[in-house]
Amino acid sequence: MKTIVVYQSTTGFTEQYAKWIAEECNCETRNIKKISGNDLSQYDRVIYGGWIMGNLIIGLDKIMKMNPKELVVFAVGSSPASEEIKDIIKEQNHLESLPFFYFEGGFRFEKLSFPIRMMLKAIKKSVAKKKEKTEQDEFMVEALGTSFDHSDRKFIEPLVSFFTHSSTSFSE
Ligand SMILES: Cc1cc2nc3c(=O)[nH]c(=O)nc-3n(C[C@H](O)[C@H](O)[C@H](O)COP(=O)(O)O)c2cc1C
Repeated sequence: MKTIVVYQSTTGFTEQYAKWIAEECNCETRNIKKISGNDLSQYDRVIYGGWIMGNLIIGLDKIMKMNPKELVVFAVGSSPASEEIKDIIKEQNHLESLPFFYFEGGFRFEKLSFPIRMMLKAIKKSVAKKKEKTEQDEFMVEALGTSFDHSDRKFIEPLVSFFTHSSTSFSE
């Protein structure tokens, strides 16, 4: 089964996960900016990874429009991994019918542009004012404005195991 890992990344976390996955699954990896629908049609399966902004998976709409034959999605955000965050992202990105994995990345605040840094500070202020905060809100108040790296190669294990299992079933 010819597979490719395609990703979109601004500060490097999603790119790192894409490369780890490609190594484990023994397939190619490519930045979404360097791939066309025509290129993609040559692959039986696409593993797409995008970073999360406001719960949306960046680049997912673009990859969907390219009509991949089979799509597996992963998302990288700064929120700690939990069933709650996974469900929120799945729902907000209409991923109910696709295999979906969430990996904790981090924050490279210094790599973000000045307007984005200002916007994040404003978001932090407004979330801090909320009376009833979700787990994600609590995390945002604590972590926004700092830099940290919570990524870990071991987090990709469920995706790799899914990949290995479904590739075996496919060839049987
Ligand atoms: C404007 C903005 C909005 C963000 N929104 C979220 C979010 O809703 N949930 C989350 O978990 N992380 C959020 N993040 C954090 C990024 O998803 C996180 O830093 C991710 O690791 C970046 O991946 P990258 O290094 O591949 O660009 C946001 C970051 C920025 C800059």
